Amino acid sequence: MALIGERGSIAFRLTVWYALLSVVLIASAGSILYWVLADRLRQEDDQWLAGRIAQVRGILSLHSRDTAALQEEVHRDTAMLAGSYLRVVDANGINVIEAPIPHAFAGGRPFADPRFRTRGDEQGMDWASGSGETYRLMSARVGIIGAGFTVQVAMNRTSEEEVLAAYRRILWLALFASLAIAVIAGYLIARRGLQPVSRLAAIIAELSAAQLHRHVVNDDWPRELQPLAANFDQLLVRLDESFVRMSRFSADIAHELRTPLHILQGEAELALSKDRSKEQYRDCIASATEEYERLARMVDALLFLARTEQPDSLPNKRTLVIEHEIAAVCDFYQALADEQETTLIAGGSGTVLADSALLRHALGNLIINALNHTPSGGSVVVDVTKTSDRAVEIVVSDTGEGIAPEDLPHVFDRFYRADSARFRQGAGTGLGLAIVRSIMLLHGGLVSLDSQLGRGTTATLRFPAT
Ligand SMILES: Nc1ncnc2c1ncn2[C@@H]1O[C@H](COP(=O)(O)OP(=O)(O)O)[C@@H](O)[C@H]1O
Ligand SMILES: [Mg+2]
Repeated sequence: MALIGERGSIAFRLTVWYALLSVVLIASAGSILYWVLADRLRQEDDQWLAGRIAQVRGILSLHSRDTAALQEEVHRDTAMLAGSYLRVVDANGINVIEAPIPHAFAGGRPFADPRFRTRGDEQGMDWASGSGETYRLMSARVGIIGAGFTVQVAMNRTSEEEVLAAYRRILWLALFASLAIAVIAGYLIARRGLQPVSRLAAIIAELSAAQLHRHVVNDDWPRELQPLAANFDQLLVRLDESFVRMSRFSADIAHELRTPLHILQGEAELALSKDRSKEQYRDCIASATEEYERLARMVDALLFLARTEQPDSLPNKRTLVIEHEIAAVCDFYQALADEQETTLIAGGSGTVLADSALLRHALGNLIINALNHTPSGGSVVVDVTKTSDRAVEIVVSDTGEGIAPEDLPHVFDRFYRADSARFRQGAGTGLGLAIVRSIMLLHGGLVSLDSQLGRGTTATLRFPAT
């Protein structure tokens, strides 16, 4: 059967449980009813037998010495003897009465059964004759002044046994029928109940990359599947976002690479178009080298970004003395500041839990931005502040040209450069602040920029409290 092969399926498990449960329920209900019925029948039999004994006891008390009268009294009520057996034995073991005498009872044989002999007075017992009949036996000792008798009675309860046997057969039948119905119905019900799951799977399987904006959630899904559909939608939204971001990013990269490559190609073609002097070739190669450098810087920056944005990249965090880090970076840029006649001032102190190389990279990007956008005579100040919530902030402020309010929301985007910066000689790649931001995200921190056009810019690296 196909069911057996589906051990891992929910429908199979539900069916098994369903079938087990119905069999257990029907079996226990049927057994209880059977037990009640059988017990009731037995009680009635015992009552009847006890009644017979009481009757005989009454007759005995009147005619204990007159055997003939005794027998006459008993036989008068022949109706009562139908299907039953009565034997009275006196103290000497002599049969006083035995009637009627079914073959199996000759001489009160069943009452000699060891199982019966341990029973007390008026305690019934079932006894099966060899020929397929069942009797209920009961005996009692009756003491009359001067004489003792044993009264043994039995009644044929074969028809009751037949009723009970029929009941058992019906119970078994009902059990097998309910098992079959439970298996079939349970499987169909489970399949039907699980249909939405396959429907959801089919819809999801049909989704292609181009349909990431489609939504699977709607009111049709059963309540249990709603969270799954909703979560799947959220996953789709995130996928769609990163999909769009990725394709935009590739377009940006292609665009950024195209311009310098065109320039290089144009210059090379121009140089080759006719014979040039040694100096002209040298100029051409020198200018090309500058472009190569820019391209190399851009590729390095892209690689760095790709590495910091990898979900499993973990910064090598240690507790750092901030003034040491600031001093190291400022020392590096001091020559550039001197050349531009800009003052570079390092201040502040404290400790922070960060990756030293990444922190220096971020700080360096901020300082070089500040230096690049601050005219000579200006100053760039690096400082450290502790906020009320025990976060550490490293602040780089300059007295430079500032950023226009319309540019400010975009400066962290990759490749974004304000127009004034875009066409400047030796302009950056537009990746500096994007790198700073991803470094800060790796540290669970934030970077923010505050700027006033013509007044200067303040960049803040905020590290969360440890
Ligand atoms: N200190 C600053 N003063 C003025 N403009 C700035 C400053 N820092 C960044 N910017 C602006 O933000 C843009 C993006 O900066 P960045 O990502 O470092 O790229 P890049 O420096 O390569 O141009 C810069 O082009 C510039 O217009
Ligand atoms: Mg920069």
